[in-house]
Formats: sequence, C-alpha cells, structure tokens
Amino acid sequence: MIVKADESAISRAARVLRDGGLVAFPSETVYGLGADATNGVAVARIFEAKGRPRFNPLIVHLPEARVAREFAEFNATADALAAKFWPGPLTLVLRLRTNTQTPLSELVTAGLETVALRVPSHPIAQALLREAVVPIAAPSANLSGRVSPTEAPHVFEDLGGSVDMILDAGPAEAGLESTIVSLADKPTLLRAGAISREEIEAVLGVPLASPAGSAIQSPGQLESHYAPSAALRMNATDIGADELMLGFGPEAQNAALNLSPSGDLREAAANLFSFLRALDARGPTSIAVTPIPETGLGEAINDRLRRAAAPRGKRTN
Ligand code: TXA
Ligand code: MG
Repeated sequence: MIVKADESAISRAARVLRDGGLVAFPSETVYGLGADATNGVAVARIFEAKGRPRFNPLIVHLPEARVAREFAEFNATADALAAKFWPGPLTLVLRLRTNTQTPLSELVTAGLETVALRVPSHPIAQALLREAVVPIAAPSANLSGRVSPTEAPHVFEDLGGSVDMILDAGPAEAGLESTIVSLADKPTLLRAGAISREEIEAVLGVPLASPAGSAIQSPGQLESHYAPSAALRMNATDIGADELMLGFGPEAQNAALNLSPSGDLREAAANLFSFLRALDARGPTSIAVTPIPETGLGEAINDRLRRAAAPRGKRTN
C-alpha cells in the first residue's frame, strides 16, 4: 500500500488518478489525498475516505501557473504572487473560469464561484501532476478532525485501506499547510501557512485583509456559498404543486432528477451541486428531496441540504 515514490510508482499512481482512484502523495507542506478534480465520483471518494461531515471546497493542484490559468481568472495581483511563490506553498483563491474544456467537479469548489489553486514545488508532487495530466484535488491526507500527515505512515494509520496508493518520499519539509490568499475580492489572508504574511505583503505592497467573522474556519459557512433560490424540503415522500422532486435511489422513480438511481452515495455527492442548480433554474417554489441515509457520504450530503433548507435570513451557510 505504501510504495517508495520512484519513477515506476509515479507512473502507476498517475494511471490510478486518471482512472478515478485515490493517491496520497508528498508535497512540500503535508501529504495530500489526491483525486482527479474533473471526476465528481473520484472527488466524492476523498470526502468518504476522510470521513468529512461537510463538503468543504478543496485545493486544486497543478504542475505550473500556465495550466492554472485554464481554471481561474488571473489579475495582475495573481500574476505577481504566482510569479514570486509558485511553485511553492501558496494557494490562491481566484474567480473560477466557467468555459473551460474540462470543467472541475462542483464538489471541488463546493458550488462556489471561486477556486483554490496551488502549484506545489515538491519534486514528487511535480512529477505526479505532470504525468497525471488531469488537475488533482487534494486535501491533507488525514481523517477529518486529525492533524495533517507529514509522513507516509501517518497517512496509512488514518486512511489505510481507503487509499489506492500512498507514495512515500520521507517526511514533508514544511509540515505546515500552504498559506491561502483570496484575490476574489481585495487580497485576504484566509489561512496562515508556510509562507508568512509579511512575505506576501512585500509583493502586494498593501496589507492583507482578514476574513470577516469566523469564515476562515469554514468557508462552507460563507454567505456566498451556493444555495438555491427555491426553498428546499428534505425527507419528502410526496410532491406538492410548484415543487420539483430531487430523488435518491430506486424508489424515487417520479423525481425530476435522481442523484443516484442505484442509491450510490458517491454518485449522489458528485451530482449534488449541479442537480440543485439545474432544478433551481426551472423556477420551482421549492425542491423536495427524498430521504438520503445519514451514513457515509450521506452525512455530508444531508448537511449541505439542511443548510440549503434553513429558513432564509437565518441561513448559516
Ligand atoms: O498545504 C496544503 O494546502 C495541503 C496540501 C495537500 O496541498 N492541502 C490542504 O488542503 O491543506 P485542505 O483541504 O486541508 O485545506 C484546504 C483549505 C480549506 O480550509 C478550504 O476551506 C479552503 O482551502 N478553500 C478551498 N477552496 C476555497 C475557496 N474557493 N474559497 C475559500 N477557501 C477555500
Ligand atoms: Mg486539512
């Protein structure tokens, strides 16, 4: 399961990623748990393996800035920070480009209109990203709530059997996650990390803003987080006039859309954001969602739905 990150292991890992598998890999910050960021089912497996109770947006890893530009809008500030700190432990949150050839899974962005991008400097991460060709979504490779892993055995302790491959290249250098700077609005430090605030401000020439309130802990709670304009009703077993049904499983035959006709939670997670958006676009008064089990990925799916269903004005997402 843990393999030494030599050339042949990297080739195999790249193939695993392209085939929708999970690969834990070293970076200069911590070990990441990677999946093809354009494959929703593969990304759903990340949340499943980590036992994350929420769909937090993930960082997309790319081999170089040129490739990153395919996925986000770069302004002059982004160009300057990328030129100075990439490859390296800086993550930039930028406006998502929507007309890309291979769109990112909406699970990666959690339905937001921004995306977090990073070009790691670790030679093994670099080699893997180049061979995989696809962009790689990767949170830290630990169980949700545990500390980030800095060595391959830590990954194995936490995630063992749920990862297809763990590439071992010894201890991660920084042991501290990347610094996250949002440029979607005025430059804001979302997470302190391996590059100091001062180093970034020296390039910007202005101080970094701090995020409002406690948003830094959990972007899943940001106001801007996508929620349908229709009301949302959970555990629906019937459907009213002006409602559209979002189904799950084989029983939901009359649903306008079914998150997974076979009842597969990975498939449901991969479809969640785009199906909510598609139904909302049809202008119903409310979206009635049939019951979804609270097990495995169902917990994160239901969390997202509960927050979308919260009374308007009181919504905490
Ligand atoms: O060093 C690192 O950044 C490691 C290695 C593996 O690259 N990755 C990492 O990922 O720490 P993770 O998932 O543990 O943390 C990602 C952070 C989360 O706090 C997430 O909410 C934030 O990035 N994030 C991702 N997309 C965002 C967005 N569009 N807006 C604001 N925050 C975002
Ligand atoms: Mg983490």
